[in-house]
This record gives sequence, C-alpha cells and structure tokens, in this order.
Amino acid sequence: MDEVTSSTPFKRLPVAIIGTGSYVPERRLTNADLEKMVETSNEWIVERTGIRERRIAAPDEFTSHMGTKAALNALENAGVSPEEIDLIIVATITPNTFTPSTACYIQDALKAKNAIAFDISAACSGFMYAMKTAVQYIGTGQVTTALIIAAEKLSTVVNWEDRSTCVLFGDGSGAAVLRRAMNDDDGAILATDIGTDGSLHDLLRIPGGGSACPITPENAHERLATLAMRGNETFRHAVTHMKKSAETVIRRAGLSADDIALIIPHQANLRIINAVAQRLGIPEEKVFVNLQKYGNTSAAACAIALDEAHRTGRFKKGDNIIIVTFGAGLTWAAAAIRW
Ligand code: UT7
Repeated sequence: MDEVTSSTPFKRLPVAIIGTGSYVPERRLTNADLEKMVETSNEWIVERTGIRERRIAAPDEFTSHMGTKAALNALENAGVSPEEIDLIIVATITPNTFTPSTACYIQDALKAKNAIAFDISAACSGFMYAMKTAVQYIGTGQVTTALIIAAEKLSTVVNWEDRSTCVLFGDGSGAAVLRRAMNDDDGAILATDIGTDGSLHDLLRIPGGGSACPITPENAHERLATLAMRGNETFRHAVTHMKKSAETVIRRAGLSADDIALIIPHQANLRIINAVAQRLGIPEEKVFVNLQKYGNTSAAACAIALDEAHRTGRFKKGDNIIIVTFGAGLTWAAAAIRW
C-alpha cells in the first residue's frame, strides 16, 4: 500500500462566504481629541498612519456584545437562522474573560444552540485564521455552516499615555457566514495561506496580565497589561509577509494580479497598505481602505472592511478578491475568494 504523505492529494469540498456583517461603537475619538491627551498632532498621525479617528466602546459594551451585533448583521445578510449554525469561531485578543471563551457568550446571545463555539487568538490575523479553520471544518464535511466573528475592545488594552501606540487602535467587530458551496466557479474561497513566526513574539505584545506576569498591586502602575510594539520592525515584517501571503493565494488560485478586482488588506497603516499594493502591482483603485475611520481594530479590521466593501458594491458576483492580514505572533494569513 502507498504511504500517505503531506503531498497525497485530498479533494476538499468548496466553501463560500454567503453573508457579511459588522458593527462599530458610536463614540468617535478623533486625532484632535488625542492632541489633548498626549504629545501628538493630527498632522503626524495622518502622515505616518492615515488614521483620522477611531471608535471607542462604552464601558458596559463588551467584546461579546460587539461580536453579537456583527454576527446578527451577517446572519441577516446570509438569510441564515442561528439554529442553522454548526460552528462559531471568534477571533479576539480582548476576550470578555479568559474563560469561558467569548464564543460561548456569543453562542448564548444568539441562541445558536446547535453550534460548537471556541475562540482563536492570532491578533490581527485572527479573522483569517478563523476563516481558514472554518474552511477546514466545512471542506472536510465535518460541518455545513460556520459563523466566523472578529471582535475587539482594544481600548481596554491601550496605554492611553503612550503616544506611540494609543493613536493607532480602535474598537469594532465584523463577521461572515460560511457554507458548503456547489463548486468554485459559482463563488467560493479558492485558496488560503496561513503562517506563523513565533521567534518574533517580542515585536508586538501585551506583556502582563497572563500567567507569565500576573498584575499585582506592586506592578499595577507599570501598565503591563497594555499593548507594547516595536513599530518600525513590525512595519517591515508586515510589508514582507503580506506581499508574500497575497502572492501565494493568487498563485494557488491560478490567478494573476490583473484578475483581482479588489484587495482588502489589514488596516494598520496606510503606508503599509500602499507598499504591499505597489509590490503586488495592484493599482490604488483596487485597494480597500477604511482605516481613516476606525484605526487598527486588530482581528476585526479586515472583517469590517470586507463587510463595508461588500455592502458598498466594491465587488460583484464573479469577482476575485484578496484578503490579507498580518499581526502579533508574528502571524499572517490570506485568502483568494471568488464572490
Ligand atoms: O496590526 C499589527 C501590525 N501593526 C503594524 O503593522 C504597525 C506597524 N508600525 C507602524 O505602523 C509604524 O511603525 C508606526 C505608525 C507605529 C510608527 O511610525 P514610524 O514612522 O515607524 O515612527 P517611529 O516609531 O520611527 O517614530 C518616529 C518619531 C519618533 O521620534 P524621534 O525619536 O524621531 O524624535 C517618535 O517618538 O515619531 C515619534 N512619535 C510620535 N510623534 C508624534 C511616535 N509616535 C508619535 C505620535 N505623535 N503619536
């Protein structure tokens, strides 16, 4: 008998995105507001990042509340009821609680009683890690319908006295419903790519608040449970990995850059987005950008962007789109999707 190896062919079932949704909190925090909080300027923030404002969740508005709103939005868009969901995956680095998972709270809120539910922690790449995981579940015939959600309340893990990070992040959520499809031509996720380099875990992290460094009365003043980033180095890796991951899915899908109707990149910095698009040979009008309104919402960023692009008609049935993300870990991921 032949030995089974990693290159033994496996025929996966096609998987399509059949609905999208998103939600952002009402409160806006503008660059002018930040000028009053730390030593910064609207000019610096716009020139170095492209961000003009971000949304901040209310104190009693948790990650699960935002995730539930995006999920309901996506279910309505897909015409799917909560009972039809087999699998819920929530991508977040700001869970309501360490345990149970935020996915459990959302399953309860949706009354999706037939779904198994769990969280994924892959920082800004989380939504695409969730998509890849759902594709595996559906593509191997384990489940039929999956709900993937990315929700972040980053305002709770930002050090509001650190100008190098506090101007970057915001709160929000996005979601998508995935279901087994008939074939790739009628609309399906054509190819995915996912990657990790744990040797660079120091570049972007929340050092305290976990088992390695619990917050104690003695260290509380050090604000260790907030985001710390080596911005410059992270920037370079973001450009390299996003370009490579996007190229990989374009190639795996049998496409070329000219076949792409829209690219939806992680919304961290406009300079990163422009550098990636330029290196891929994708013109500006085919690049989706909304970071000026929301800043970097980590896992939620490309989920919100996908929903906005979908609802505003930035792509149509039959178009090929690329989503590509990058984040702490380091992690990166991409998908080529025929809508
Ligand atoms: O989502 C996950 C992935 N995240 C990313 O990919 C983010 C990647 N990194 C970045 O987007 C950029 O590195 C930042 C936007 C974070 C920073 O931009 P930069 O061009 O790399 O600036 P820098 O860190 O090299 O700082 C340049 C200068 C410094 O001053 P000196 O040392 O040159 O005097 C900073 O102190 O800008 C200063 N600076 C600020 N000035 C005004 C840093 N933050 C601010 C600020 N306002 N908010």
